[in-house]
Amino acid sequence: MKVLGIAGSPRRGGNTDLLLAEAMKGAASCGAEVKTIILNDLKITPCQHCDACLKAGRCRIDDDMQMIYRELEEADRVVIASPIQFMSPTAQMKLMIDRCQALWARKYVLKIPPLRTNQERKGLFISVGALRIANLFEPALTIVKSLFKVLDITYAGELVFPGMDKKGAIAKYPEALKQAFLAGQKLAADH
Ligand SMILES: Cc1cc2nc3c(=O)[nH]c(=O)nc-3n(C[C@H](O)[C@H](O)[C@H](O)COP(=O)(O)O)c2cc1C
Repeated sequence: MKVLGIAGSPRRGGNTDLLLAEAMKGAASCGAEVKTIILNDLKITPCQHCDACLKAGRCRIDDDMQMIYRELEEADRVVIASPIQFMSPTAQMKLMIDRCQALWARKYVLKIPPLRTNQERKGLFISVGALRIANLFEPALTIVKSLFKVLDITYAGELVFPGMDKKGAIAKYPEALKQAFLAGQKLAADH
């Protein structure tokens, strides 16, 4: 069982980082092999809409996204963690999601079947935002669910916390961290 965590915040040790770390600890406690990718440390070019992927089934841009494609293919579980910025996932996360257009092309244009049809893959979304407004997480949820659909990943739910702004504010809510740990455990244990 391989669990891939993808961190979209520019802040190391920030709120989504702390929640993601707990979720990954939870998954590891079930014996899962865990790996976390920090998008902010990588060089990912925005999708150029060159349409090369529509013919080749892969992206022609040779950057760190090539490593992420491999990790996404190998993962049994994927945890997407991103704070809300201007009502959406961070730019770092959206860059990665847009580059999954190559995987969209494989699936819907070239009709290449998913690598694993016998094993269900699952995905979790973790987010925080500063505000406490209705629908704060809705745009991001829609985006992340559409990513999971393209990747043939079953949506396993979300863990979202409004009213978190200062770096590390979530640490004052041990219950939230515990929820993240348990969500990671459930994700890795759910077969
Ligand atoms: C550029 C930017 C835009 C933001 N936009 C929103 C927003 O639209 N809604 C909101 O509730 N919080 C917004 N925030 C606040 C962050 O979501 C909040 O500080 C969060 O706790 C950051 O999480 P992190 O510590 O994981 O980076 C924004 C922060 C930044 C830097």
